[in-house]
Amino acid sequence: MQRRTLLAALAATLAVTVLPASAQSPRLKVGFMLPYSGTYAALGDAIEKGFRLYVAEQGGRLGGREIEYVKVDDESDPAKATDNVNKLIKRDNVDVLVGTVHSGVAMAMAKAAKDNGTLLIIPNAGAVAVTGPMCAQNIFRSSFSNWQPGYAMGEVAAKRGARKVVTITWKYAAGDESVGGFKEAFEKAGGQVVKELSLPFPNVEFQPLLTEIAAIKPDAVYTFFAGGGAVKFVKDYAAAGLKNTIPLYGAGFLTDGTLEAQGADAQGLLTTLHYGDGLDNAKDRAFRASYQKAYSAVPDVYAVQGYDAAQMLAIGLNAVKGDISKQADFAKALEAAKIDSPRGTFTIGPSHNPVQDIYLRQVAGRDNKVIGVATKALADPGRGCKM
Ligand code: PHB
Repeated sequence: MQRRTLLAALAATLAVTVLPASAQSPRLKVGFMLPYSGTYAALGDAIEKGFRLYVAEQGGRLGGREIEYVKVDDESDPAKATDNVNKLIKRDNVDVLVGTVHSGVAMAMAKAAKDNGTLLIIPNAGAVAVTGPMCAQNIFRSSFSNWQPGYAMGEVAAKRGARKVVTITWKYAAGDESVGGFKEAFEKAGGQVVKELSLPFPNVEFQPLLTEIAAIKPDAVYTFFAGGGAVKFVKDYAAAGLKNTIPLYGAGFLTDGTLEAQGADAQGLLTTLHYGDGLDNAKDRAFRASYQKAYSAVPDVYAVQGYDAAQMLAIGLNAVKGDISKQADFAKALEAAKIDSPRGTFTIGPSHNPVQDIYLRQVAGRDNKVIGVATKALADPGRGCKM
């Protein structure tokens, strides 16, 4: 070894031994585990863009620490999830996990986060379990529980006079729980879910199921689909001649980030979600302008959830002055926070899921126009969560 290299190496070793914990590694490593391929690819991309935008607006640092990124494509495949999350935790030594979209993958991430004590912020996946029986001090969600938009739509459908409803979705946690929320509110209000149709994720052979719906002739249909699958479902529903005869109600993912591809077939559809177009608050206006400038694109709900995941990380990190090992203080700060989101201000409930307004939206052109608040300050029940 040359003398100068040797000195440099010595200096580096000294720096590591002498400096206090928070200064040892000035960079904070964020591990994105998101779908960059498959039916949810566009969702993963929007989440990453939203997250990076907030960090860039803060000059690349949160809680005094420079942010660096590593990423893994989880392919929305639960079978690969444990291996993928362990790459980020054990190989890349990330300080924070940010992911994911698919509920089945998120449950594997939550288990690994719990086992290893790694901070996890979920920027989409609504799996009820992660803020239910699996809830933990180091696990947070910036998005929603699958139950929330479904529950809000159950109330809306009943108010609009539907009595007999058929549901149709993908057979996995997100679909089951979205339908579960809908059914809970709808049947409480006197309605009845007469048939629950489903197909495996991410299949899109909807035709036989649409034929069954036409034969049953319900007052309305409730659905959860998202991403590429949602585009195809809305088009197939219209092509089957059902759009003008049986109202289609959905969790808002049905028409979010998808309207360009759905075109005329989506016009007029009613959905419920915690974000929408035309909210007209200062934060949303600034966010949209900033996103447009950075990416030449209009943000959707996924971009908002990514942005807010970064805001939540900032709130926690500021409270512990960048020392992410102080998990109790990090959690306390978020539990007390009012998060100034483009969706409107929201808080984090005791199970670490957002407490937020769920809007009623109607598709008009390229917009999911907000036409009212379906349910105000809706909290997931957090059933089975013991912190
Ligand atoms: C989920 O798997 O929880 C999920 C996926 C896509 C969405 C919403 C929820 O748009």
